[in-house]
Amino acid sequence: MFEELKALPADKILALMKAFREDPRDDKIDLGVGVYRNAEGVTPVMRAVKAAEKRIWEAQTTKAYTGLAGDPAFGDAMVDLVLGGAVPRERVAAVATPGGTGAVRQAFELARMANPGLRVFVSDPTWPNHVSILKYLGIEMVPYRYFDAETGGVDFAGMLADIGAARPGDVVLLHGCCHNPTGANLNRPQWAEVIAALQATGATPMIDLAYQGFGDGLEADAAPTRQVVASMPETLVAASCSKNFGVYRERTGILMGTAADPGLLQDTMAYLNRQNFSFPPDHGARIVTEVLTDPELRADWEAELEEMRTGMLELREQLAGELRQRSGSDRFGFLAQHRGMFSRLGADPDKVETLRADHGIYMVGDSRMNIAGLNRESVPKLAQAIIAAGL
Ligand code: LMR
Repeated sequence: MFEELKALPADKILALMKAFREDPRDDKIDLGVGVYRNAEGVTPVMRAVKAAEKRIWEAQTTKAYTGLAGDPAFGDAMVDLVLGGAVPRERVAAVATPGGTGAVRQAFELARMANPGLRVFVSDPTWPNHVSILKYLGIEMVPYRYFDAETGGVDFAGMLADIGAARPGDVVLLHGCCHNPTGANLNRPQWAEVIAALQATGATPMIDLAYQGFGDGLEADAAPTRQVVASMPETLVAASCSKNFGVYRERTGILMGTAADPGLLQDTMAYLNRQNFSFPPDHGARIVTEVLTDPELRADWEAELEEMRTGMLELREQLAGELRQRSGSDRFGFLAQHRGMFSRLGADPDKVETLRADHGIYMVGDSRMNIAGLNRESVPKLAQAIIAAGL
């Protein structure tokens, strides 16, 4: 039977991780997968996470099942972190999921249960796994213009025109902050215009929030999501704890949905968890809850997250500065404007390949760079290679 299986296309990001590992060069630079790394190239266990883990280990007396929605304390803590009171808690349904990706998957399935003819509007480009999951589920995808390759910013007029074609029953997927893969984001007045456009269409917004705290700060990064949730009758929000708590392998995320009466939504989300994996993972969720609800741990977590964020901003400034100097122009200035882990450099695939082959610099084929893969020493090397590759 298994010989009937068809070979599947490799995931671009995961294939790049493998190629990097196999490259013997000492001075290679990994700007591929979206994992935070410090100046030493290490993805640290955050201090507050380590402390919470120790407390849990000491205090935990059982590992019996929680509930299909996960531990309610996790739900409350995350609804507060992400939505911050934008809508009353009674209007929010929430279930823990295996990572942000698990939340995205559940959201798509849920929307299709509500509307079998579902169409999902996705930014062009978007995180490749959005596209891959939608294809896998056989859900129709409608790309909307997003990235302006000329300016490195958002093609806002194109975006507005394209999402204006959505209809009631469609889902419009938005990145809450730190757009992946481009790093180009909407400003607050633009978010207000997007909300007005969505209200005119009657479509349902779905927000993927995977990098809260990596862009302009925890509150600022959540602000657009809160604005959307407060302004629309129904929304879906998939949030990840992988990056901002550094608990990648624990698979910790949450799917939230808002509605006037979210009872049915809550039951359906729990049902979907049961069908797909039964109870969601608990360990990471418990760590996150401990960190968010203990004032001391929370303050330390926020401080460390802020160090990570500002470190990435400094690297952006340094890279834009080096490129300004070496190119004699400001054409890479957008790198300092972008926010989050990623920036799309705007290089053709052959230039991306030159950077890999000649300089040992690994970025995704669409020229997405993980800024956290750099440090003060590797930035000049990258800048020099970008200019040498003729960009
Ligand atoms: C990324 O975009 O690199 C991350 O979200 C990791 C992943 O799972 O693709």
